[in-house]
Amino acid sequence: MQIPFALTYDDVLIVPRRSTLSSRSDAQTKTRLTRQLDINIPIVTANMDSVTGSDMAIAMARLGGIGILHRFNTIEENVEEVKRVKRAQNFIIEDPYTIEQDQTVASAKEYVADIGITGLLVASPDKKLLGILSRRDFLYAPNGDTRVSQIMTPREKLVVGNKETTFEDARAIFARHKIEKLPLVDEENTIIGLITSDDMKLSVDFPDANLDTDGRLIVGAAVGVHGDFVERAKAVVTAGADVLVIDIAHGHSDLMINAIAALKQAVPGTPLIAGNIATAQAAKDLCDAGVDALKVGVGPGSICITRLVTGCGMPQLTAVSEVAKVAKTYGVPVIADGGIKTSGDIVKAIGAGADTVMIGSMFAGTAESPGVVMTKGDKKFKISRGSASFTQAQKRQQKGQEQKELSHVVPEGVESIVPYKGVVADIVYQLVGGLRSGMSYTNAHTIAELQENVTFVRITSAGSRESGVHDVNPIT
Ligand code: XMP
Repeated sequence: MQIPFALTYDDVLIVPRRSTLSSRSDAQTKTRLTRQLDINIPIVTANMDSVTGSDMAIAMARLGGIGILHRFNTIEENVEEVKRVKRAQNFIIEDPYTIEQDQTVASAKEYVADIGITGLLVASPDKKLLGILSRRDFLYAPNGDTRVSQIMTPREKLVVGNKETTFEDARAIFARHKIEKLPLVDEENTIIGLITSDDMKLSVDFPDANLDTDGRLIVGAAVGVHGDFVERAKAVVTAGADVLVIDIAHGHSDLMINAIAALKQAVPGTPLIAGNIATAQAAKDLCDAGVDALKVGVGPGSICITRLVTGCGMPQLTAVSEVAKVAKTYGVPVIADGGIKTSGDIVKAIGAGADTVMIGSMFAGTAESPGVVMTKGDKKFKISRGSASFTQAQKRQQKGQEQKELSHVVPEGVESIVPYKGVVADIVYQLVGGLRSGMSYTNAHTIAELQENVTFVRITSAGSRESGVHDVNPIT
């Protein structure tokens, strides 16, 4: 029997080469997520219910990556999560909340508390701007029957912009007038938008944020290939999802190919990422089916037991390389999904041909992941839960989403605890810093150059031991 050889990240190192980069900042991390969509750092958070909800998706898009919302909830919950990301940040709010001037202050207070904002535009029924109820107006306002018109800052005292107002104009106006909200009106004084200083500040604080054409953060959503997947896809795309991930454990299947065809019809124009796969043939079949990116990884994930349960899988470096060789001929980007433990693994995954990496458990322990922080002694933890774990099946059954009897479930993942690590930005900073260093060692100014420039060597267990910290007791 001729058995080919396959490798994973820890089996190899990248040979350093002469570098023309004079600092890490010479390395550009912008990359392709799908055929249509670029992102500023090659990091995607996994569509696991212990990793990506709206908080994680907001944080990741701001940092330059993207979060893929999990699908282990109802369609309505899923839609709300997409909307939360889309509402988190705007340059121009095109349809701002308004209130009429003869409403009571009490009802205005209730309204702002309900929608979670700090102020309101006051408008006539035909959307003419009459004033603003600012944070300050509310602060000293009496309750009872007082009307909005009695406490608002009236139109004649307002600074306003128009449809020509640019980011720089708005910034100058906020600085000069010390205001928090800049309404935009047309020549007839009709409200056409609103710019807030909070949103301006976010744009300055997060220069790498990935934004859609309306200036909102981008977000992905996962769907399956069974049941309500078409309905879910339509609903999340209508709510604003920028990309869909069709995610099943064995993506090289007729079910997947049929789902791709169905979704191309149901949500035309929305980029489709499909996976997971691990071979060149799978890459060819899914590219022929018309996908916009491929997700690679059968069994490398930290919480996966697929390889133990099924005997099937492919060491991840070989899987990425085999898929990438084919995907490249179609111009389809590749996501290396699972098994990333260090920034060095990201450099190796891209060196093997990936355009981005998907990360699960490393982010499950952050403040932004769904779920509570647990404490044991002086240590804090969160949960990382495999999507095919027993506990996930149990949760789905409680929600009426899993029909199978629990005794008939054959898990291919586990639930585990991971140390609490604080905010995701700190981890991403280290990962991107390591990636940039790796790009410097390989003379890669861009992700495309990193994909081209890498030469791997296989290492022995002695080489592997030498690579880690050894013969010392690290303090930190
Ligand atoms: P990491 O290593 O980043 O991997 O935690 C995340 C990826 O693992 C996959 N995943 C699973 N694979 N059984 C599996 O075989 C599971 O229960 C499971 N849950 C998640 C998934 O591809 C994820 O992005």
